[in-house]
Amino acid sequence: MVELTRQPPILLAWLGSILFSLLASHTTTHFCCPVPIRLFRQTMPGDERRQPSPPRDEVVTSSEGDEEWLWSQIKAEVRRDAESEPALASYLYSTILSHSSLERSLSFHLGNKLCSSTLLSTLLYDLFLNTFSSDPSLRAAAVADLRAARTRDPACVSFSHCLLNYKGFLACQAHRVAHKLWTQSRRPLALALHSRVSDVFAVDIHPAAKIGKGVLFDHATGVVIGETAVIGNNVSILHHVTLGGTGKASGDRHPKIGDGVLIGAGATILGNVKIGEGAKIGAGSVVLIDVPPRTTAVGNPARLVGGKETPSRHEECPGESMDHTSFISEWSDYII
Ligand SMILES: *[C@@H]1O[C@H](CO)[C@@H](O)[C@H](O)[C@H]1NC(C)=O
Repeated sequence: MVELTRQPPILLAWLGSILFSLLASHTTTHFCCPVPIRLFRQTMPGDERRQPSPPRDEVVTSSEGDEEWLWSQIKAEVRRDAESEPALASYLYSTILSHSSLERSLSFHLGNKLCSSTLLSTLLYDLFLNTFSSDPSLRAAAVADLRAARTRDPACVSFSHCLLNYKGFLACQAHRVAHKLWTQSRRPLALALHSRVSDVFAVDIHPAAKIGKGVLFDHATGVVIGETAVIGNNVSILHHVTLGGTGKASGDRHPKIGDGVLIGAGATILGNVKIGEGAKIGAGSVVLIDVPPRTTAVGNPARLVGGKETPSRHEECPGESMDHTSFISEWSDYII
C-alpha cells in the first residue's frame, strides 16, 4: 500500500539549509548530499500498533532533562562551527540545526548515512524516528554513548563531533534500532539494517547482540560482534575487536562482557566466556577462557598479569579510564 503524504520536517530541513547557507556565507554552496525529499510513505498493516508514539510528557524522566541539556549543547557547538566554516553551514543546518530534537537529528543523519538505492533515506528516517520516539531507553543510551565518547576519547572535541563523525557511535545507535526490531520479530528488516551498517561503517554487530549504555566503540573499523554476545555498561572497545563464536553451529556461543571492561585494539575473544566486570584485555590478545573481574589479560593465548593464582587487581574502571598500559610498569620485565 502506498499512501501519498507530505513531509514538512524534511522538506523544511532542506529548504532551510539553502536559506541558512545563503545567510551564513556569501559564497556559492553546492548541494550534492542525498537530501531526502519524501513524497511517498509506505505503510504496512499493523504500523500503528507497532509504532506507538507516546505523548512526550508520559515519558518525562531525569534522563529526558539530560537529553535536552545535551541537545542544546550540540546546537550551540554547531552554530559556532557553521559560523566559522561556511562550507559546512548547509550540511550542519540540515543535519542538526533544522531539527527539534536529538532523536530527529540522529534519525535524519543515520537515514542519510545508511540509505541505498533500494533502502531509501526517507524510509530509514521514519524507521529510526519511530523507534527512538517509542523507546526512551534508546534515547538515554544514545545520550550516555555521546557522553562516553566525550569524556573518554581525548580526540573527541565536542558532542557534535561524535554525533556527526564517529562511525562507532552511529553504528551503535543503528544497532540499537536493529536490536529493537529483532526483539519485535521484524527480523528481515533488522538484518537488512545490520547489512547496511556493516557496508557503510565496517562494523558488523549481529542484531541479536545485547549492548549496554555508555559504550564507546573507538575508531570502530573492523569490529565484529556475534549473535549471542552481551556487552555491559560503560564498556570501551577499540577497533578490530572480535567477539566471536568457536565454530559450534548454534546456541549460546559468544562472549559476555561485564560492566566497565576495556578491550584493546585487535583483541579476539572467542566462545561463551565471561569477561568479568572492570577487566582489561590487552591489544592483540586472543582470549579463550573466562577473565576474572578487575584483572588484566594479555597475549596469545591470553594470560593474566600477575599469574593465574595471584593476578594483579586494579581498582579503577578501565572501560572509563581507558588506561591501556599502566600494568607494564607495575609488573612486566618488558625493557628495551
Ligand atoms: C557508568 O558510568 C556512568 C557515568 O560515569 C555512571 O554514572 C554509572 O554509574 C556507570 N554505570 C556502571 C554500571 O558502572
